[in-house]
Amino acid sequence: MAVRVPDLDPGQALDPAHNAEYPGADLRSAVSGTRTAGKAGGAAVRVVVTGGSGFLGSRLARELLAAGSLDAAGGGSGELARLTLIDQAPAPADLTADDRVTTIRGDLGALLAPGREGRDAIAAADVIFHLAAAVSGECEADFDLGVRANLHATEALLATCRAAGTNPVVVYSSSVAVFGTSPEHPLPAVVLDDTLPNPQTSYGIQKYIGEQLLADYTRKGFLRGRAIRLMTISVRPGRPNAAASGFLSGIIREPLAGLRATCPVAPDTEVVLASPAKAIGGLICAATSGDEAWGGRTAVNLPALTVSVAQMADALERAAGPEARALIDWVPDPAVARMFATWPARVRSDRAARLGLTPDPDMDSLIRMYLAEPRP
Ligand SMILES: NC(=O)c1ccc[n+]([C@@H]2O[C@H](COP(=O)([O-])OP(=O)(O)OC[C@H]3O[C@@H](n4cnc5c(N)ncnc54)[C@H](O)[C@@H]3O)[C@@H](O)[C@H]2O)c1
Repeated sequence: MAVRVPDLDPGQALDPAHNAEYPGADLRSAVSGTRTAGKAGGAAVRVVVTGGSGFLGSRLARELLAAGSLDAAGGGSGELARLTLIDQAPAPADLTADDRVTTIRGDLGALLAPGREGRDAIAAADVIFHLAAAVSGECEADFDLGVRANLHATEALLATCRAAGTNPVVVYSSSVAVFGTSPEHPLPAVVLDDTLPNPQTSYGIQKYIGEQLLADYTRKGFLRGRAIRLMTISVRPGRPNAAASGFLSGIIREPLAGLRATCPVAPDTEVVLASPAKAIGGLICAATSGDEAWGGRTAVNLPALTVSVAQMADALERAAGPEARALIDWVPDPAVARMFATWPARVRSDRAARLGLTPDPDMDSLIRMYLAEPRP
């Protein structure tokens, strides 16, 4: 697999027209003249992953390192020269052991302040995957955290890219949570590529604002933005997180480990899921597709598997027997159920299909993938 970098002419890339009114032009000197030819033929590629210690960020990092090269935005494959992981949490040891990896630890917004190391990393990057975010449950519980981590940090990242004047490819991990239903604007039965987002949570609102800012920075020529709306990922390994959708992994993962798990929504609740592998595939597709193939500045909906929670339990039973299914406690939580009632249950992603992205075939395969993964 190759991951691509835009074939930048340094003079053009640093065109001050992009930055004329922007005070942060200090970053230009950090990039100028630093690109070298890579073994893969094109210029060497430098990649930044924000949220690089997280669930998807660390998987993405492993994929990129294993591929060893990247074809940024269809501009030609270049050797992966440097992978910088920015996160407030420590990076997994297998990633820090790779000499192509640099880690920068701290709050993204703070790391992008003038003089801080995050700015230099962004200025030197050809491709940036922006994954750092507070998750949905956290944003509902702590409004200020969501605004700071998801909105202000995203704005700072985009402004830093603009100040660098390097026109990087910026992949933004948006979410199906941008869709929602309200009395004056009901959600259609099937979400299509042109369905109007109508987020009903702080997290969804923040993700949607991020998409729009990315689109405008792209329109202005400051960067090449690619927003992809990820579905709920299942089965997510490890410990439960604060995402409102966390139970969609928990009701499979915990019973498979012999533990009880709570399902807070009714069994007939339909949800849209994707495997970790499909999510990573979508993120890499966003980074490597040419502008024309990507098809515009609006976000792409990742293809989704629709299942009811009862069908998830059926698949669990097929994989691990009725005793595993019996470990699910069906305890309705009105707050979670209300949130889910506003989220889509069916998505038709024609644009993603044209990019070659496909949904997972069924719940059984999501469970098989999870069981096949090595455990620490
Ligand atoms: N996993 C899903 O089901 C799902 C679905 C839709 C969208 N997404 C989006 O995908 C991205 C990655 O999700 P994930 O599941 O890997 O989440 P995660 O919580 O596992 O990883 C996010 C990482 O970002 C880091 N982070 C958060 N705020 C930060 C800050 N201010 N400064 C520095 N680091 C910060 C966290 O420490 C964490 O390591 C997020 O943007 C999320 O909104 C995920």
